[in-house]
Amino acid sequence: MPPFFSLLLFVLCAGIATAIPAANPVAVPAASATRPPTGAATISKVAVDTEGSGCRSGTVAVAFAPDNSALTLILDGFHAGIGPGYEDFGTRAFCRVNVTMSSPGWAFDVQSVDFRSYVNIQKGVEVSLVSRWKWIDTKGVDMKGKGNVKKVLTGPFEDDYLLHKDDELSDSEQSVCSKVSAMFQLSLSATLSATSPTVTGKVDGDSADARFGEILNLSWRRC
Ligand SMILES: *[C@@H]1O[C@H](CO)[C@@H](O)[C@H](O)[C@H]1NC(C)=O
Ligand SMILES: *[C@@H]1O[C@H](CO)[C@@H](O)[C@H](O)[C@H]1NC(C)=O
Repeated sequence: MPPFFSLLLFVLCAGIATAIPAANPVAVPAASATRPPTGAATISKVAVDTEGSGCRSGTVAVAFAPDNSALTLILDGFHAGIGPGYEDFGTRAFCRVNVTMSSPGWAFDVQSVDFRSYVNIQKGVEVSLVSRWKWIDTKGVDMKGKGNVKKVLTGPFEDDYLLHKDDELSDSEQSVCSKVSAMFQLSLSATLSATSPTVTGKVDGDSADARFGEILNLSWRRC
């Protein structure tokens, strides 16, 4: 099984697991750990913005990896298209979520980002994938900690791909140890442009399971 699918299953299972209250308290590991122990970083709420054309409530799953090395966003029905045959698709898909999470005693920063998607664009079409994240308080006021990543693909290109972006985070600011009320706001957009009205292109979920994935690789520190 390709690593992404394992991760996806992993994440989906983790999502199911977190929905069931844990019967036993999680063991606390050695003090030398560089990440919170399994179960110590939790997500209590994922609120999906209605202005986003690329996602609706119930189509978005956000989860920490069991070892807390990553935060994964999985979208059902996130797609965009351009040109003949894609009239029903928008040329831009946008999704924004507010994630209420808790990791007492720990703070993270985003180290790198992977996108998992299916892209099929002809010559003359360009796709831009942009993801931004920041911390906000309950009133929507920005707190410390933000960043963004952008990837542009130029046609012709067709692949299911896992796109890794490392050391290319822009506008990056280290987070502070967040208050209980803080939310992590994560947005993702896919925008297509074409040099001619006859060329086509689309960005879609992975061809195997139709899901679009974004994996944020996290670095943690103690507060
Ligand atoms: C997410 O937070 C922002 C800032 O507070 C707010 O404007 C927006 O309505 C929130 N979205 C949801 C779905 O809660
Ligand atoms: C996360 O980032 C670390 C440090 O840059 C790297 O060693 C690790 O391989 C990355 N993991 C993933 C899943 O990208």
